[in-house]
Amino acid sequence: MPGIFTPLQIKGKTLKNRIVMGAAERVGFTYEDGLMGEDVIQEYETLAQNNIGLMITQSLVISPEDAVACGFPVPGIYKPGHVTPLKRIVDAAHKNGSILIAQLGIAIRYSPRWSTKDLEDLLARYLYSAKLCVEAGVDGIEIHGAHNVTLNHILSQRTNGRHDRYSDGLNLVREMVTGIRNIAPENLILSFRMGCCFDWDKDIRMAKAIEEMGFDLLNVSVGVQEGYAPGIPADYEYTPMTYAASLLKKYVSIPVIAAWGIETLNRGDRLIRNGNADLTAYAKPFLADPEFVLKSKNNMDYKPCFGCRSCQWYSDGSRCPGRKRAHKTT
Ligand SMILES: Cc1cc2nc3c(=O)[nH]c(=O)nc-3n(C[C@H](O)[C@H](O)[C@H](O)COP(=O)(O)O)c2cc1C
Ligand code: SF4
Repeated sequence: MPGIFTPLQIKGKTLKNRIVMGAAERVGFTYEDGLMGEDVIQEYETLAQNNIGLMITQSLVISPEDAVACGFPVPGIYKPGHVTPLKRIVDAAHKNGSILIAQLGIAIRYSPRWSTKDLEDLLARYLYSAKLCVEAGVDGIEIHGAHNVTLNHILSQRTNGRHDRYSDGLNLVREMVTGIRNIAPENLILSFRMGCCFDWDKDIRMAKAIEEMGFDLLNVSVGVQEGYAPGIPADYEYTPMTYAASLLKKYVSIPVIAAWGIETLNRGDRLIRNGNADLTAYAKPFLADPEFVLKSKNNMDYKPCFGCRSCQWYSDGSRCPGRKRAHKTT
């Protein structure tokens, strides 16, 4: 069985290991009208020197309205000026032998009263942002369909509420895949961040549909809840989201990323060796210490994150206690 340091091929591209830096907004850095400031670009450049197989950017919003709707400054990819900063991050990843995926997200409040034309316009914005990502030279694009973001609400039967062709929200994702494939190089990796609803039948159906549409990677997370995640053993040592990843892995043949609370390379290695995931993602460990992997090299149980009740990076990363400790020890 492969382990966390076993390379993986996806779409003819080699991931040097199965460590994924998961998408995470970094509030506290500079963003202006979606443009990433020097500080956040340098943060990614530091992260890239860290032996990460796959780097996924924080969610890049696809419209100026969305940048405002988030309520805090966020980066975007909705105008030509956004290409250069993203290209610098891509170049930093490539210089260090990492693969870079840009995550596209949108978090404006969805209403079932949105017209079919509204959704067609949304689709056009996704495709324009995808085109800009391709111009920046990304290895892949991840569509964010989890965490109660707009697309998650369109996908969930509980919140969709429509009677047009998008009453099955998957039709929107299907059109997205077709549109992106039409403008992207053949070897572009398409990843889907899936928000499990914890009704396993529905989650399995969605995972299979995602594979059938032509996605190359399934990144499993949490979404609008519709069930109660039955069957998780009381002594299960990880999280419901990693359990979901290991369950869905049985139903798809594309590589599956497990995330949430994996915390250490040892724990990730175990998930992969046991056949429960193909890759393991870490977010807070990298927020707490950008050198998480380098420092873990000699101690696979290295834990830089304090697991605060509310992660400071949602409001002001400079208050992250893990980061303060990391600075002290380096
Ligand atoms: C501050 C913060 C921002 C996040 N932003 C995103 C995001 O933009 N897109 C996304 O898919 N997940 C986002 N996440 C979720 C992470 O990718 C990850 O799934 C979650 O933090 C659990 O993994 P961890 O236990 O390794 O931190 C965010 C998490 C945190 C803490
Ligand atoms: S130490 Fe606290 S603020 Fe820092 S990444 Fe961990 S949970 Fe977030």
